[in-house]
Amino acid sequence: MRLLSARLIISLIFGITLVSLLFSYYQVVVEKRALRSDMERRAEVLGESLAGNVEGSWDVGSDRQLQRLVERFANREHLVGVAIYDRLGNPVATTPELGKALAASPQVVNQAIAKDHNASSFMRLGSEPVHIFASPLHRKGEVVGGLAVVHDVSYIRAQSLRVWRVGFFRVLTQGFFVVLITLLIVRWSIAGPIARAAQWMRAMRTGRISSRQEMPDLDLFRPLAREVATMAESLAQARSAAENEARLREAAESMWTAERLSVQVRTRLDGSQLFVVSNRQPYLHQRAGKSLEVVVPPSGLVTALEPVLHACDGTWIAHGNGDADREAVDARDRLRVPPDDPRYTLRRVWLSKEEEAGYYYGFANEGLWPLCHIAHTRPIFRAADWQYYQEVNRKFTDAVLEEIEGIPRPVVLVQDYHFALLPSLVKAKRPDARLAIFWHIPWPNPEAFGICPWQRHLVEGLLGADLIGFHIQSHCNNFLRTVDRVVESRVDWERFAVLRQHHRTMVRPFPISVDLSDDESAQSQGEGSSYVERGSLLRNLGVEAAFLGIGVDRVDYTKGILERFLAIERFLEKHPAYQGKFSFVQIGAPSRTHIKRYHDLLAEVEGEAERINWRFQTGKWKPVVFLKRQHSHKEITPYYRAADFCLVTSLHDGMNLVAKEFLAARGDERGVLILSQFTGAANELRDALLVNPYDIDQTAEAIRVALEMEPEEKQLRMQRMRRVIREHNIYRWAGNLITELCEVRLDAVQETPARLSASVSGA
Ligand code: G6P
Repeated sequence: MRLLSARLIISLIFGITLVSLLFSYYQVVVEKRALRSDMERRAEVLGESLAGNVEGSWDVGSDRQLQRLVERFANREHLVGVAIYDRLGNPVATTPELGKALAASPQVVNQAIAKDHNASSFMRLGSEPVHIFASPLHRKGEVVGGLAVVHDVSYIRAQSLRVWRVGFFRVLTQGFFVVLITLLIVRWSIAGPIARAAQWMRAMRTGRISSRQEMPDLDLFRPLAREVATMAESLAQARSAAENEARLREAAESMWTAERLSVQVRTRLDGSQLFVVSNRQPYLHQRAGKSLEVVVPPSGLVTALEPVLHACDGTWIAHGNGDADREAVDARDRLRVPPDDPRYTLRRVWLSKEEEAGYYYGFANEGLWPLCHIAHTRPIFRAADWQYYQEVNRKFTDAVLEEIEGIPRPVVLVQDYHFALLPSLVKAKRPDARLAIFWHIPWPNPEAFGICPWQRHLVEGLLGADLIGFHIQSHCNNFLRTVDRVVESRVDWERFAVLRQHHRTMVRPFPISVDLSDDESAQSQGEGSSYVERGSLLRNLGVEAAFLGIGVDRVDYTKGILERFLAIERFLEKHPAYQGKFSFVQIGAPSRTHIKRYHDLLAEVEGEAERINWRFQTGKWKPVVFLKRQHSHKEITPYYRAADFCLVTSLHDGMNLVAKEFLAARGDERGVLILSQFTGAANELRDALLVNPYDIDQTAEAIRVALEMEPEEKQLRMQRMRRVIREHNIYRWAGNLITELCEVRLDAVQETPARLSASVSGA
């Protein structure tokens, strides 16, 4: 600051001096010119009047008379003297002061005589500056001589010096005041605000204040201050991120976020690209009058994969099942999604009605779904469905090959039981592709799987993958045991891998999850607000109740919805005090309703709810509210937050994300989770009230325990479960899956089938 002031002062002094000097110089020039012309004018008047007198005395007069005449004029201001010369320039009469100095006529007199015209000149006489006015003298029209009037002009120089002197003092005074005023301005409007800004920034830096609201008045530095405030905020954010990271590191568990996943995936992909294949698409287009409507289908798989695609801008290949899907794609059946904020590419694959019926409704959902879920619904295996399943797997393979064409070492993530054959089909054409398949549903024991007539083809198809993922270890074990029985291969139980025909397939558990942070950001509810929300939610449904339970499912026989309703009925029987006070809201999205079993189930669930309501209902209260339609995540969240407990009673479930979504929504750390022991989630969420959904009394008792649990106990359990899903979130699932896949070595496996202790059994 001092250096700045010194520089400023020097520049100011230099500038002011220069300007003042130029100004003074101009003044001197003007003044000098005025004095000179004044002198010329006066000399001329005097000279001409004198010349008249001299001419009058020229004839008559003697030299003495002329001498007297010149001497009479000699006493004028600044006049040095007068001299008269004859035509040849010889002096005729001269005032004594001029004496010898003008013994010979000066040049200017000669000039006046020669040209018969007045002339004047500034010159030096000895060392003195003088002005000489010369006029010709006439007699009878003839030039007879010349007159010189000499003035002392040294006063002009003196006057110029005076102007310079005044100028100098003015420069000095002006400079002093300008510097003084400038320093005061700098102090008040620059140094002051800068000092305040520095103080404020220091406070921000040290964390004493945290927002721009506390920004001091920084005057003309306001725009700069705003920038500084933004920087300070970024700094504060970076600091809190770093603190967070440090906290997590301290907990020996660094948190997975969308950003971290994005960086991880990009690093792992190392310039390559990610392709996801699934039956269900993340967005479908429907015609709504004249416009197109975008719908997000109810699927745990979609919920889980969206953030992965957002993170790395890949391509998602899926069945285009919306009635207006074809209108939204380009010539290559692609579009960018999400439609309002495009982040990745969706490639739609078209299926005929027959293909959809055979592959999706038939083989996948009437065959494999009940085969893998031990829910005692008998699988149906039709040869025609199997044909369509193979055809559609080939169709999707073609789409994948088309998308990955020209892309070196693509990374392909295949999803679920709809595409068991796709890994082998793709790898046969593109061995350089890294391919993983994630099986989102359970894998049953080999005996149960063995009833599928085409089990060998399915297992061989899957073994084309470099990595097969399941939710939990027991599904991995079941799969490896099935492989052991069905195909010629070596199962490496130490590394959980299958070696077959020079190819290694790793088999690993990756428990799928949700994004807790998303829900946390929306948790600004205060104490007791869930109860306020509950009142208005139930009022909107036309029900009055003090206690609330919630269930959210696709209406699927694996979800144990009927068993759940029976447990609610038993609870009300055993604890009549809750009659009139406890209601259960079941959100049920109709699903796969073209399948008779699902169609019938929907009616059964509705019938059961009606039966129980008819039995207990009084006034404005009823025990079961069945909301039979698909609800968005946004619509469901208030129910999660308002409920005393969430009831998940799947008879068998790969993971069950409803349980995790409920926990994610409970930022208030209240609410209890009642969870079927037959879900994958039960492995991680040990603080839930675990139940066997077939045991109606046990579930009824769990409902009582949930409603009567001490708040401290609820909070402790909720805190522990939320910590589990915070640390094992969806980003971690995707990050681990992709990391593991990218670490697989694609070069040939050393062991040959001949050396392996192969176990073979027929399909
Ligand atoms: C399960 C399956 C998913 C499927 C979802 C919804 O979570 O694992 O692959 O997308 O159910 O079923 P849907 O048949 O409607 O796609």
